[in-house]
Amino acid sequence: MENKITLHDKTFKLFIPNEKIEQAIDAVAARLNADYADATDEDPVILLCTLNGAIIYAAELLKRINFPLVLKACKLSSYAGTKSTGYIKTEVPLPANLQGRRVIIVEDIVDTGSTIVVLKDLLQAANVRDAKVCTMLVKPEVYKKSVKLDYVAMEIPNRFIVGFGLDYDELGRNIKDIYVLDE
Ligand code: IMP
Ligand code: MG
Repeated sequence: MENKITLHDKTFKLFIPNEKIEQAIDAVAARLNADYADATDEDPVILLCTLNGAIIYAAELLKRINFPLVLKACKLSSYAGTKSTGYIKTEVPLPANLQGRRVIIVEDIVDTGSTIVVLKDLLQAANVRDAKVCTMLVKPEVYKKSVKLDYVAMEIPNRFIVGFGLDYDELGRNIKDIYVLDE
């Protein structure tokens, strides 16, 4: 693994090695397997992957989850470059027929929380039975919203990161480790 990488005009340095990320995912998956052990084929849990950033996290969770689930996806976006715009666009709408279902929202990272607040409202409006938030990362110094983050794999400081699904203007998603902007 490289110590430094360049994407577009910026340099990033190694921050969280893949092995650490996978260990944190193991712990989250163990909690999910315990909490959703009552799911059945007739009443599977909806794993709602938020595109594109959460793809790798969702895949890693899928490999570890042992209860019945249905994989769905949606896409909301708020980021341009390295800053949240605070304005949320729906690029791929929520799946239909969520009424009465238990949903686990799989997010890559909660930053300002604008995205997760909108998503929770949309799920409530769709009359889900329950919606939990399962995010790989959170920036606690930034996140001040009241939506509960039920499952958090790792907390990070208020820095811009890439890798393991996260991008800088679409580049860097395919990097196995997490890198932080070198300022
Ligand atoms: P929020 O709405 O401000 O919580 O932003 C959430 C979304 O912004 C995440 O799902 C990411 O797609 C993106 N995002 C937030 N922080 C970062 C970062 O450090 N690197 C890359 N993308 C980020
Ligand atoms: Mg995202």
